[in-house]
Amino acid sequence: MQNDGTQALRWGVATASYQIEGAVNEGGRQPSIWDTFSHTPGRTFNGDTGDIACDHFHRFAEDVALAADLGVNAYRFSLAWGRLVDANGRPNQAGIDFYSRLVDELLGHGITPVATLYHWDLPQSLDDAGGWLNRDTAYRFGDYAGIAASALGDRIHDWTTLNEPWCSAFLGYGSGEHAPGHTDPGESLRAAHHLNLAHGLGVQAIRASRTDAKVSVVCNLHAIFPASDSPDDLAAAQRLRRVGNDIWTGPMLDGAYPDGLMDETAAYSDWSYVQDGDLATIHQSLDAFGLNYYSSSRVHADAATLTQRIAAKGPTCWVADYVDFVPPSGPLTAMGWNIDPGALTWLLEDLATRWPGLPVFISENGAAYEDVVTATGIHDQNRIDYIDAHIQAVKAAMAKGVPVTGYFAWSLLDNFEWAWGYSRRFGLTYVDYATQKRTPKDSYAWYKQMIGR
Ligand code: FCB
Repeated sequence: MQNDGTQALRWGVATASYQIEGAVNEGGRQPSIWDTFSHTPGRTFNGDTGDIACDHFHRFAEDVALAADLGVNAYRFSLAWGRLVDANGRPNQAGIDFYSRLVDELLGHGITPVATLYHWDLPQSLDDAGGWLNRDTAYRFGDYAGIAASALGDRIHDWTTLNEPWCSAFLGYGSGEHAPGHTDPGESLRAAHHLNLAHGLGVQAIRASRTDAKVSVVCNLHAIFPASDSPDDLAAAQRLRRVGNDIWTGPMLDGAYPDGLMDETAAYSDWSYVQDGDLATIHQSLDAFGLNYYSSSRVHADAATLTQRIAAKGPTCWVADYVDFVPPSGPLTAMGWNIDPGALTWLLEDLATRWPGLPVFISENGAAYEDVVTATGIHDQNRIDYIDAHIQAVKAAMAKGVPVTGYFAWSLLDNFEWAWGYSRRFGLTYVDYATQKRTPKDSYAWYKQMIGR
């Protein structure tokens, strides 16, 4: 084993409920917004849905055995809100039993469960009442967090409130690429505030239920860099960081929305939904911060273009319209994303500079590639190279003093990649969806060897 400080890390893999579980009508599960969305024609690639996905609900023991053979000491997964509680917000025992069996299986193999409460599958019943536009959803989340912690907190000690709330707010309510598929910038901001509030209420509920809980949030902080040193490009990058990153870290870690954000977005939102006391509720002490990282971007803006756009679009001109993304260059993954491990080091150092001492874990990192099944296996050297480079980037940040506590590869299995359906594969394990056969890829063997040093 190398003496590079990584021995004590949690080495894990990550998954999410709707992406792997299937069994959408079993165990008293309520439908979620992703059931509705994926069953709406035109919303997902090929009309793919999570109805069956990896059938993990029935095959969880096999999947835990795969994780155990991989040698991970931690497993990050999410609970489906609509399995844990019924449409009246009461505990659903069959759903609790499922996760209880999963957790016991993990613990039986010496794997620490790290549970995310919300990985995008909002119960449809709550969306019918307004979803994240309705402040009450944040309170319902707090109730659900308390139910989950009291039902499972004797064995789950590591809790994450939200996964990538930026996607919930901005892809769900702004671009419409994710459920519930709305396209209104003002709604994104309102949803963002209610997600922030849900986080704070969730932390309070978990801590009220379990004093020994370790609580975190997971964000996909955007690595956004200016294309040049020009003041316009610098300002563009800062605007996007405010609405992409600081909109979460500000309230959660500092108790305030970032300076400038409300003014910049005043054309689409009056922020009147921020009530007295909300920021204090959102600003809870956290035991760790989870960072999901895949790629970076460079942005460019010149004053003339900006003036023209504002003139053309008027007060509805959205913050993201104020900048141009430089097309990604170099080798890309199958998502069309660039490969920039250095930006991961940068993000980690930035976190450590702004919030010294806050433990950080890489809650997701990985790559989609066009895997080819051959008679001798799935030789995904590209994925190995990607993960290896990013682990080196994490080590570089650690060498500079960033308190990193874990690394979770996305993902244990190929799975339902949201709007991309089954067309994009991120797994260390290949899934043949017709037979549900799992076949470890070369990246699985590589990761196993690397973490087992
Ligand atoms: C992240 C999501 C995760 C998965 C990866 C590829 O944004 O959290 O569910 O889809 O991207």
